[in-house]
Amino acid sequence: MGVLEGKVAFVTGAARGQGRSHAVRLAQEGADIIAVDACATPAWLSYPLATEADLAETVREVEALGRRIVARKADIRDLTAIEAVLGEGVAELGGRLDIVAANAAIISWPRDTWAIDAAEFRELIDVTLTGTFITVKAAVPLMIAAGNGGSVTLTSSGAAITAGKGLGDYKAAKNGVLALKDTLACELAEYFIRVNAVCPTAVDTPMIHNESLHRAFRPDLANPGRDDVRDGFAQMNLLPIPWVDPVDVSNAIVWLASDAARYVTGITLPVDAGNHLKC
Ligand SMILES: NC(=O)c1ccc[n+]([C@@H]2O[C@H](COP(=O)([O-])OP(=O)(O)OC[C@H]3O[C@@H](n4cnc5c(N)ncnc54)[C@H](O)[C@@H]3O)[C@@H](O)[C@H]2O)c1
Repeated sequence: MGVLEGKVAFVTGAARGQGRSHAVRLAQEGADIIAVDACATPAWLSYPLATEADLAETVREVEALGRRIVARKADIRDLTAIEAVLGEGVAELGGRLDIVAANAAIISWPRDTWAIDAAEFRELIDVTLTGTFITVKAAVPLMIAAGNGGSVTLTSSGAAITAGKGLGDYKAAKNGVLALKDTLACELAEYFIRVNAVCPTAVDTPMIHNESLHRAFRPDLANPGRDDVRDGFAQMNLLPIPWVDPVDVSNAIVWLASDAARYVTGITLPVDAGNHLKC
């Protein structure tokens, strides 16, 4: 029997990468899943986001585990859409919501902060910070109403807790996520809803494995691939690895959602191969 038997979990950005892994790991532990993904890419972004086919694959993998899933194409910036999905999912999955994995986000690319286009800065903050706020704004009233307590995990980033040049937009958004986590942990403790954050180092997903980020790491090469950026990524970590796997972050989320972490709230959990001590 899994450690999350009978629970219902809401995962954003669930079509691929860490979000899909979270949905599958939570389902392996017995949770039913409500999943959303925008399945659409902002025009200026330097890498493609997930597709509806990706979201369908997440559905297939969760159902293959014998768990139920309500999955919808929805943008985390759209409060009406997120409330509708959650309403539908909670009604279909037994009237409860226990776990939130606020995972969806976008990243830009390393450039000096003053060189970031203002409209692109606004959209990154809108998705990565405001979208995380919308996620909890829609989910928390349902958790309070269900009266079962619960676990909310916000995905921040190692980039938020280490210093360095570039990605000022992303770091600002992910530090905002940590501020939301602290505030929500204080506000929701009386309902036994625990609120924590994970800060991964680089994770082996399309967010880092795309042409634009590979080129940023290896401007000396015409067509750098994942093997060409291995050493550069490994330099960020204490442990001699370039990146962690999505399941490493999912395992942290499962633990935080489980009774094993029943008195853990308000923490910032690095899943980072020691990256926070490196800089
Ligand atoms: N990959 C890394 O190296 C890394 C490191 C630290 C933190 N993170 C964070 O981990 C989380 C997951 O990222 P990932 O690595 O799986 O990247 P990813 O790009 O593979 O997955 C992100 C998912 O979010 C979805 N999404 C984007 N904007 C959305 C929106 N407005 N509404 C709904 N869905 C949207 C995308 O379609 C995609 O499926 C993000 O919060 C990211 O910032 C990633």
